[in-house]
Amino acid sequence: MESSEIRKKFLQFFEERGHAVVKSSSLIPDDPSVLLTTAGMQQFKPYYIGKADPMKEFGSRNTASVQKCFRTSDIDEVGDKTHLTFFEMLGNFSFGGYFKRKAINWAYDFVVNILGLSRDRIYVTVFGGDEEVPFDKESYDIWHKEVGLPEENIKKHGREDNFWGPTGNEGPCGPTTEIYVDGVEIWNLVFNEYYCRSDKSLEKLEMPGVDTGMGLERLAVMLQGSGNVFETDLFHPLASVIREAKPGLEDRIVRVLADHLRSAIFLIADGVRPSNKEAGYILRRLLRRVLVYEIKHDIHAELFALAVPVIKNQYAKWYPEMENDREILNVMMDEKSKFEKALAQGVKEIEKYDAISAKDAFYIYETFGLPFELQKELVPDKTGELKKEDFDKEFEKHQEISRAGLEKKFGGHGLILDTGELKASTQEELEKVTRLHTATHLLQAALRKVVGDEVKQMGSDITAERLRFDFSFPRKLTSEELQKVEDLVNEVVQKDLLMSYKEMPLEEAKETGALFFFKEKYPDRVKVYYAGHNLDDAFSKEFCGGPHVTNTLKVGKFKITKQESVGAGVKRIRADVE
Ligand code: SER
Repeated sequence: MESSEIRKKFLQFFEERGHAVVKSSSLIPDDPSVLLTTAGMQQFKPYYIGKADPMKEFGSRNTASVQKCFRTSDIDEVGDKTHLTFFEMLGNFSFGGYFKRKAINWAYDFVVNILGLSRDRIYVTVFGGDEEVPFDKESYDIWHKEVGLPEENIKKHGREDNFWGPTGNEGPCGPTTEIYVDGVEIWNLVFNEYYCRSDKSLEKLEMPGVDTGMGLERLAVMLQGSGNVFETDLFHPLASVIREAKPGLEDRIVRVLADHLRSAIFLIADGVRPSNKEAGYILRRLLRRVLVYEIKHDIHAELFALAVPVIKNQYAKWYPEMENDREILNVMMDEKSKFEKALAQGVKEIEKYDAISAKDAFYIYETFGLPFELQKELVPDKTGELKKEDFDKEFEKHQEISRAGLEKKFGGHGLILDTGELKASTQEELEKVTRLHTATHLLQAALRKVVGDEVKQMGSDITAERLRFDFSFPRKLTSEELQKVEDLVNEVVQKDLLMSYKEMPLEEAKETGALFFFKEKYPDRVKVYYAGHNLDDAFSKEFCGGPHVTNTLKVGKFKITKQESVGAGVKRIRADVE
């Protein structure tokens, strides 16, 4: 069955059963807490939680779509026969229309009667239950008693396998049931019964919802019998062009190139542009990997120019944004020329060293975009000692830090973080000031608990050596009081409270009781950072832009080193963490 037929049959099947067919949303989601669209349900988040009315928008409580999705989780696996970054997902959704019975019966009907996959190839999984969420007996019984699957073909699994969501910080979530054919998962049916808050607590949704997802590429593999996604009709044209461009190229390389080219073209078509952060960084990585492979594997053809028309021909009928092929190619070629310049500079920089360390290599990667493999390849005499695992460690450190949402400056000179309050010039310093920053919040909360609410922050300055916290208070604290404050902070550190934030409108944020500067002008939406399981009874809450550690144990042992008086009614505490 050709992939276009799969799409058609899927949408038709659900349209006949009262679903409105909805277009794929962009790969750039509306939801700012998610980098890219990873699932079909994302565009429907407001309908699940009653914030938007599906009848008004779609004339139905049920929808179906073929959604463009991008997941970075498998990026390092790409190169085998199945893993991809970009893919399309078939899905049917309901917001208070139907629930488990219809969802399961329809899915089964579609798989067996429309796709023609025989019943004895199928087994399913359901959520087995845990302390918080009960066993999904309803789904189990539907599979067994209504569909008639034998009990040995219905397996129970836990949270990791059979519970979905949320996408982003918070959102709808719930138990899932998954359909496997020949041991391969093809369809995930999610029953959104809860709303998962950013502190991970679950709240029952007023109206339960259905969200299902079935990967088009995986289904094509199954129905076209190749066992290899790059041999399906979805990839065959592009893979052939790459093979013609460089006969004899290893399969793994052809697959990486095909995946990355297709993904990059889809990202650009939706408006992502190469940059050093967020989605732009992902795109840059995809494009540069293609360019690196071109150099490494001696491919002299222009793969960007070859790939764009292939993808356009194949996909423009589903995705009109592909018509913009000139602009897409321009973006790619522009990135290519930037990369070539950076490459030359990077090589020149490496030549200055006697031998480069993992840290140097990472600096060169960050600054000039010259990846590990090319450093080894292009300047072998300076990189002989350089090991991939050490480089990867540097890379991971960096990723943790960028997750904390930091502003990065490239070039490796001067400060890499300067929020006015926090300053750091190396990766290590960044980690330290992040810990001290969380310590500062705990310190303020502890001061207010020990000597009272008169304490108000007047200023704060954090370097890798120490934190410095100025606050209004009429007298010096006694040494007993200081000891109590220090002990209280350490107690909270040891409790290992979650440190997280909620973003909300300014007025709502003020009502939470979070601390803020009266004199400062805040934007309409602010982040409230809090230490504790939930915002209401958090030990500390403050308006803040971050960064913070994720949980208080990471702060380490807290020690007050000095108290001073700085001006009328203003005291200063210096402290450090080990
Ligand atoms: N949201 C679920 C998934 O992406 C089902 O659509 O797997």
